[in-house]
Amino acid sequence: MSTPGQTTIIIGGASGIGWATAQLLAGRGNTVIIADLDGTAAGTRATELGANTAGHQVDVTDEQAMRTLFDTVAADHGPIDTVVDCAGISHPGTIADLSLADWKATVDVCLTGAFLTVKHAAHTMRDGGSIVLVASLNGRQPGVGMGAYCSAKAGVLMLTEVAAMELAPRGIRVNAVNPGFVHTPLTHGATLVPGLVEEYIENTPLGRAGTPADVARTIAFLTSGDTGWMTGAAIDLNGGAHTMRYPNIVERVADMTATSTDTA
Ligand SMILES: NC(=O)c1ccc[n+]([C@@H]2O[C@H](COP(=O)([O-])OP(=O)(O)OC[C@H]3O[C@@H](n4cnc5c(N)ncnc54)[C@H](O)[C@@H]3O)[C@@H](O)[C@H]2O)c1
Repeated sequence: MSTPGQTTIIIGGASGIGWATAQLLAGRGNTVIIADLDGTAAGTRATELGANTAGHQVDVTDEQAMRTLFDTVAADHGPIDTVVDCAGISHPGTIADLSLADWKATVDVCLTGAFLTVKHAAHTMRDGGSIVLVASLNGRQPGVGMGAYCSAKAGVLMLTEVAAMELAPRGIRVNAVNPGFVHTPLTHGATLVPGLVEEYIENTPLGRAGTPADVARTIAFLTSGDTGWMTGAAIDLNGGAHTMRYPNIVERVADMTATSTDTA
């Protein structure tokens, strides 16, 4: 159970896993600040949550914007107790074919964004607080065509450990979650590739994809006193998929393209 009455910032909170987390924590009596690249959606989501919320536009890759976000929330709502970074994007492509721009965009949002989250959280949050970074199954399990995303998320896992060491003297805990395939707007494109989600599920012992609520419950657990002795940890949350293998998305997309060309 998360601790009621906390002030929580959720970056990337307007959609998917972040939005499910915002709803769960607000429902448990927390003040929830939704920060997102899509400022309109952040504002709409905050209105949906009702009292004790606010929506802010922020680009997690922009240091000045992140500094302003944390300073504004601290000024408006007092000490920040918990920070969750759910901002993420993915640009699939084999390493040989991936553009430098797509590599940089993915690493910037997923890894540099996590760095700026921890950095500015450290400057403004209260001692004894908790930071949760959303990494990924792909931070520990490789996938063909996932080079930028896998590398960035692996970086998030190491960042979690270093940050946990550095912030432990202040009692600030830093942990990560590693979701497997979860149905959200981020993964909608994958659901359009024939057989791709089915192959993921075949390689998932519990036999299903995840829901945003599955992940939100684990994030809430990590923000709570129930995990008061946990830091520098990453929780695998993927139906057991880390014990098997990741689908080959490049082959699946090639099959789909060949089929659509054949029938054209
Ligand atoms: N959905 C999955 O299968 C899955 C699996 C493992 C990890 N994850 C990770 O979970 C996190 C949440 O993903 P999701 O599936 O809920 O996706 P989503 O697309 O539903 O939500 C991501 C949110 O991040 C925001 N965002 C994107 N770029 C941003 C930026 N530069 N600054 C601020 N906000 C930005 C988007 O506007 C969006 O609201 C991501 O870090 C993602 O990599 C997702």
